[in-house]
Amino acid sequence: MRLLVTGGLGFIGSNFIHVVLRERPGWSVVNLDAMTYAGNPANCADIEADPHYRFVHGDICDAAAVDGALAGGVDAIVNFAAETHVDRSILDPEAFLRTDILGTHVLLEAVRRHRIPRYVQVSTDEVYGDVESGESKEDDALRPRSPYSASKAGGDMQVLAYWNTFRTPVMITRGSNTYGPYQYPEKLIPLFVTNLLDDEQVPVYGDGMQIRDWLHAEDHARGILHVLEHGELGNVYNIGGGNPRTNMEITTTLVESCGRSMDTHVRHVADREGHDRRYAIDCTKARDIGWAPRVDFEQGLRATIDWYRSNEAWWRPLKSGEFLHYYKRQYAHR
Ligand code: TYD
Repeated sequence: MRLLVTGGLGFIGSNFIHVVLRERPGWSVVNLDAMTYAGNPANCADIEADPHYRFVHGDICDAAAVDGALAGGVDAIVNFAAETHVDRSILDPEAFLRTDILGTHVLLEAVRRHRIPRYVQVSTDEVYGDVESGESKEDDALRPRSPYSASKAGGDMQVLAYWNTFRTPVMITRGSNTYGPYQYPEKLIPLFVTNLLDDEQVPVYGDGMQIRDWLHAEDHARGILHVLEHGELGNVYNIGGGNPRTNMEITTTLVESCGRSMDTHVRHVADREGHDRRYAIDCTKARDIGWAPRVDFEQGLRATIDWYRSNEAWWRPLKSGEFLHYYKRQYAHR
């Protein structure tokens, strides 16, 4: 199997490439990545010399770059390339529309033109919007509420429209909040862990009683791989960890694991505009084709904290330059 992975220098994409190269001997991966702020060459530095791996620098919105990456022929495309951070989408929505909708369109056209047999769109449970009670199923209406989730929903709509109109061989995965090594330190868990390791405070939005369902990056990667191999074309699959936690529960674990105190290190700040209170997905469909998460949440979270503790050389350079500018814009006024 020859794969084109887009956005493979990002968090979930790089975890996916590592799982594929480790667990599918003989498969090869071309990684097309635009190297935006979240695309980090260090995430794939250990496989640069692997003969089954090739990196191509390029943007999914650029049809010529996509054609170039497909030149050797591929059996499937898995699209991880996206702008992903809700807070950034509130500050600057345009990049989200471009990559998450237009980029998806460019890839779908390439799938048609090159007659690629399979395309997997990596999406998110956030497209269902705020879920007050119960769990979202794949056929539920999409009610995205942030510029980020609306852009991802726009991508999903394009993918399903290509299935309906052209029978383009597509599938969609909708993953829940993901944690693990190599996550850019703007998201809740890596931001809080690295702040705490640095003896800094962590900014909890509002009352911190929002609920997210946490999924380990390797479980997420294996879920996407499972759908690629066993999913039915034209279908959507929810991939969730089954670990619903409030942000305060997560914060308490992180603060205690880093040896800090809630009194001195937690700061409740102004809530995110339009903040979704709860996400929850029903993953029966993915389980019915044989996928299940393997990583125990408490163990996975402890291992993740240890990873950031032992890999300061990975995250320290990221918390400088562009990041500090963003951090100030995002948090200074709160
Ligand atoms: P995040 O990691 O940004 O993921 P998402 O918004 O896609 O779920 O945030 C997870 C939760 O943590 C969300 O409810 C917002 C909250 N949060 C904070 O309270 N403070 C922060 O500084 C960040 C980044 C997130």
